[in-house]
Amino acid sequence: MVDADQPLDHEFALDRDCTTLSRHVFQQLQSFSADAQDLSALMNRIALAGKLIARRLSRAGLMAGALGFTGEVNVQGESVKKMDVYANEVFISVFKQSGLVCRLASEEMENPYYIPENCPIGRYTLLYDPIDGSSNIDTNINVGSIFAIRQQEGEDLDGTAADLLQAGHKQIGAGYILYGPSTMLVYSIGRGVHAFTLDPSLGEFILSTENIQIPAHGPIYSVNEGNFWQWDEGIRDYIRYMHRHEGYTARYSGALVGDFHRILFQGGVFLYPGTVKKPEGKLRLLYESAPLAYLAKQAGGRASTGTEEILDVLPGKLHQRTPLIIGSKEDVTLVESFLKEQARVREETANVSR
Ligand code: AHG
Ligand code: MN
Ligand code: MN
Repeated sequence: MVDADQPLDHEFALDRDCTTLSRHVFQQLQSFSADAQDLSALMNRIALAGKLIARRLSRAGLMAGALGFTGEVNVQGESVKKMDVYANEVFISVFKQSGLVCRLASEEMENPYYIPENCPIGRYTLLYDPIDGSSNIDTNINVGSIFAIRQQEGEDLDGTAADLLQAGHKQIGAGYILYGPSTMLVYSIGRGVHAFTLDPSLGEFILSTENIQIPAHGPIYSVNEGNFWQWDEGIRDYIRYMHRHEGYTARYSGALVGDFHRILFQGGVFLYPGTVKKPEGKLRLLYESAPLAYLAKQAGGRASTGTEEILDVLPGKLHQRTPLIIGSKEDVTLVESFLKEQARVREETANVSR
């Protein structure tokens, strides 16, 4: 018997398939104002970048010149891969003549890239890591792209983009694209965190999980333990605690996006602490740590440097690095407790020897 009051299965499926990213932005903002139109168009462009990158990645092993290193070293001092360059250019290309974004700042460019034809009206800046987890590319393991959207403040007449050096609270949106077994786009514009899956037959990102909440605690700890002897004693104590207690399991893919994505859904903590020689660690604040911290907070989780909320950190420069501890609230707090205890012991020892 068909119940006339209940929608049919195919109506459910049709409605689900029509929940595209741009429609979702309008739903979130409950408006068709000019601002809503802009944000929707902006997310659509980011989605296009994701589709272009996913398309190249899916065939990279069959294409000449898609994989491997370029031989260049970027501003971070890291060897650049051909896919880093391609993905960096994709983001620039999709925003040309969009009227949306005047400046783009990326891991792969020393200074922000200006699109002069957009600048009179483009009120947004896009910060991005075009390929996160580059070391995974040549072996066909998951990689991602990370992005943050900030409102441009002032005219930036001297072209220094100094207004970008503000805390992560200034982000008006953030997200990532995960190139895994399927391509997913996860984003927030300050109203929860939502995941979309690319349906290759439609060429569209379709809503797959709405309002994701990170469990308050989870079993996963995700860290490169190869750095164990370079860490501060507090981090080492935390890892020893993980080893000695039941209920924890290690997962580390070499791509922050993939590791964070798992934790977003299943709970736990990702760490990239500083080392004794490099106290700021490896990850970059403006286009890696801060966007993911924004998502973590929106999903009920936390992100910390160990002593400060990531979203409170004031960058001193565009490519600033920061230690990162991110994920379930209780697990981030547990890591911090080991760092606090170590700081207390250090101070006590210093007082005794005075
Ligand atoms: P990127 O490829 O953008 O330089 O980022 C790599 C980052 C991050 O994705 C990952 O979590 C971490 O570097 C892995 O570093 P290690 O190899 O030092 O563990
Ligand atoms: Mn990265
Ligand atoms: Mn990168």
